[in-house]
Amino acid sequence: MPVVLIVNGPNLNLVGEREPEVYGRISWSAIEARLNEEAQKLGFEIEFLQSNHEGVLVDAIQEARHRVAGLIINPAALTHYSIALRDALALLEIPIIEVHLSNIYAREGFRHRSVTAPVVTGQICGLGASGYVLALLALHTIIRGEE
Ligand code: DQA
Repeated sequence: MPVVLIVNGPNLNLVGEREPEVYGRISWSAIEARLNEEAQKLGFEIEFLQSNHEGVLVDAIQEARHRVAGLIINPAALTHYSIALRDALALLEIPIIEVHLSNIYAREGFRHRSVTAPVVTGQICGLGASGYVLALLALHTIIRGEE
């Protein structure tokens, strides 16, 4: 079964509790349950990783590079400035979908720039938790198409 890794950056462990008017009221564990259900339907095995530490995310991306079929990543604040994360993503040869719960382009100016967007396959933002489900569907289409 193809493995899809779902990576969340800093502060996303507190989804549901953190600025709910911006990021929604659904907890990460509820989002995980929904993703597990979808993954089962699509025939994916999924793994989750959240870290507040840039280096942990870089290590996980490197480790996954020859092992997983696709990656979904919400780099959170690192989206806007982490060249280390961008470089780690750039070395992968698998499809990568960048997800943001909020519409980063409708928020403060410093959120309008994503340094990771140019090295991913596509980006979904502003659709809340559904963005992760849509990313899984997109990966399914891409991975199947490549078979
Ligand atoms: C976020 C948007 C980022 O600007 C912010 O720093 C986050 C979450 C989102 O999912 O909307 O932590 O990536």
